[in-house]
Amino acid sequence: MSFTPAERFKNIRKSVIRRLYESAPPGSINMGLGEPDFETPEVVRRAAIRAIEEEKNGYTSNAGIAALRESIARYHNEGLAAPLTADSVCVTNGSAEALFAVVMTLAGPGDEMLLPDPGYLAYPALAAIAGVEVSRYRLPAARGFAFDRDSFRASLTDKTKLVFVLSPSNPTGRVIEPGDLRFIARCLADTNAYAVSDEIYRELYFDRRPASIAEFYDRTIIISGLSKMMSMTGWRLGWAVGPEDVIRQVTVMHQYISTCASAISQKAALAAFTNEGRDATAAMRDELRHRRDRMAQALSRDLGLPYVAGEGAFYVMLDVSRFGPSEEVALALLDERVITVPGSAFGSEGEGYLRLSFSIDPALIEEGIRRIAAWVRGSGSAG
Ligand SMILES: Cc1ncc(COP(=O)(O)O)c(C=O)c1O
Repeated sequence: MSFTPAERFKNIRKSVIRRLYESAPPGSINMGLGEPDFETPEVVRRAAIRAIEEEKNGYTSNAGIAALRESIARYHNEGLAAPLTADSVCVTNGSAEALFAVVMTLAGPGDEMLLPDPGYLAYPALAAIAGVEVSRYRLPAARGFAFDRDSFRASLTDKTKLVFVLSPSNPTGRVIEPGDLRFIARCLADTNAYAVSDEIYRELYFDRRPASIAEFYDRTIIISGLSKMMSMTGWRLGWAVGPEDVIRQVTVMHQYISTCASAISQKAALAAFTNEGRDATAAMRDELRHRRDRMAQALSRDLGLPYVAGEGAFYVMLDVSRFGPSEEVALALLDERVITVPGSAFGSEGEGYLRLSFSIDPALIEEGIRRIAAWVRGSGSAG
């Protein structure tokens, strides 16, 4: 008899990013994966080595080491009316686990989750697993994926339980301005909804540090971690921060998912909040700004297609709508040995675009754009 997964798994498939990555030919330039390519800063690596060599690394408390939770609370406190404490923080195995634990703790059948379109592709999968309905607020491609107040207001219903705010955005890199965050807070003021603020890219900005919805709305759960800001994707260190009564329950959920985050990663993570750690993030930010400029130059010089570049993260959205569906274009580009992500993976507003990452070596950015240009000149121009 063939294997039938549980009902909740029925419509869930491996992400298109992984599928494209696995079918890419050798020598492909990967403009698809969503992770920084920097070495993890030395100050963090040294702390990890010290923890391994000198300490016993048993289970930590479920919510995480107290000193780390205090550092995380202090880090998020800026601009908040009511200060966060260590009890406002649950440290998790990457922000992916924090997202999972928060959704599973707060929402279930009969509830709705309001997601940005386009937005991070894990969100709808989480909703499906939790049995939560999804509605979307549009960040219209026609307006450069900017926040759209009318679409947001129109998507709220009396079943809305969780409202996802993603700034800077994956896939667009766009930031939601403080005035729009205030607008979201006003819309939610008379509801029972919690804002889930995914701030995983917050430190990777090019101009001003993006604001947080937590500055304007108390019922906010911030999701963040060190994957992007410290180039620590494989260390699996993230967290959920929010009202203590919510975090208490999220911590129980987290206990049954994974007990605690890696003790070694937690001890190393303390170093991220030192001056040396902060300086390392600043250096990555500067390098990413430089690469964004290299990407923009290459796009204008070699390709000449419209694109949207955001104020943060490390992505641009390239308009390939004249060549057919974005998934077909991404598949065709594999023959040119360049991996991209079709915008359709992030929601219907992403259709017609490819997400390109510039978190790769600048020489590869230029070669990747040249390969896309070669495809456009050849088979692409027929489409
Ligand atoms: C928007 C967003 N949120 C969360 C995550 C998960 O990151 P991690 O689990 O490594 O902290 C990612 C990873 O790509 C992301 O893009």
